[in-house]
Amino acid sequence: MEEIVKKVILPAAGLGTRFLPATKASPKEMLPIVDKPLIQYAVEEAISAGIEEFIIITGKNKRAIEDHFDAAYRLEEKLKNSGKQQLLKEINKLNDVHFAYIRQKTALGLGHAIYCARPFVSHEPFAVILSDDVIDPDYPLLAEMVEIYEQKKSPVIALQEVPWDEVNRYGIIAGEREDRVFRISDLVEKPKPDRAPSNLAIIGRYILTPDIFQVLESQEPGAGGEIQLTDALRELLKKRPIYGYLIKGARYDAGDKLGFIKATIDFALRNSELAEGLRQYMKEKVADFR
Ligand code: G1P
Repeated sequence: MEEIVKKVILPAAGLGTRFLPATKASPKEMLPIVDKPLIQYAVEEAISAGIEEFIIITGKNKRAIEDHFDAAYRLEEKLKNSGKQQLLKEINKLNDVHFAYIRQKTALGLGHAIYCARPFVSHEPFAVILSDDVIDPDYPLLAEMVEIYEQKKSPVIALQEVPWDEVNRYGIIAGEREDRVFRISDLVEKPKPDRAPSNLAIIGRYILTPDIFQVLESQEPGAGGEIQLTDALRELLKKRPIYGYLIKGARYDAGDKLGFIKATIDFALRNSELAEGLRQYMKEKVADFR
C-alpha cells in the first residue's frame, strides 16, 4: 500500500435542507463565509496539508461547484484590463489544481458518498473533508492528522468535545486518551444522550485507509436510514486500530445557521477591509441590547 496521503474526498452531494430556501437550486457548499465558498476553504486547507488530488462527490444541482473551480478567462481578462491584480490573483490561484467529479446518483448517506470514490482511490490512504465543518484557516488541522497517520499507519479521525445535549447530531466515540490522541474503542452515529459513550464528537476531517471500501461495500443503512461512515468505521475497528485526534483550534458548524453566522463574524473580524466597520456596528448593536 502507498503510504503518502495525496488525495482528498470532498462529499458535496447532500441536500442542504437546513439552509432552504437558499439551497433549493444551489449547492450549500457554495455558500460563502465573507467572500469564499465553504468548499474553497476545504480545498485550500487540503492544499496546505500537502494534498494534490481532489475528488468531489456531487449530485443534483451541484454544477456551480465545477464552474467555480474552472478557469474563468473572460473574467480574468476583464480584471487584467481594469488593473484589478489582487482580485485576479484571488480568482485564478486554483487554476492549476486538478479536480475529479463523481456523481452520487441518490443521497444514500456519507458512507455511500465515500464508497462512490472507490475507483479513484484504490490502494492508498486518503483524507476526507466535510466542508460544512469549517476550521480556522490558520490552524493546520489536516496537516497534523497526516502526521499522526504517518506515525500510526491507521485511520485518524478529528474529535471535539460537544455539549451533551448535542451528541445526537454527531458520530460519538469512546476511547483511551494519550495526550491529544485517542485509541478508539467504539463509535456510534448520532446516539441519544443517554446512550452516548462520551461527548467526544467526530468532526468532518478523516484520514482513512482503503480497507474501509470493503466494509462500505456491504454496509447496511444505519441512523436516519443512511449508509453511515461511522458504522463502517465501527466494523473496521474489529480488524485494525483507529485513532481520534482532539482538535486544538476553532471549528464552526457552518451547516447550522447560527454556526454559519458565527464563522462569518469571526472571519470578517479578521478581514482588514471589514474589521473596523463590523466592530463599530457590533458595538452599536450591543449598546442596543442594554
Ligand atoms: C457527519 C457524520 C458524523 C459527524 C458529522 C461531523 O454527520 O456522519 O459522524 O459527527 O458529520 O460534522 P452529518 O453532519 O453529515 O449528519
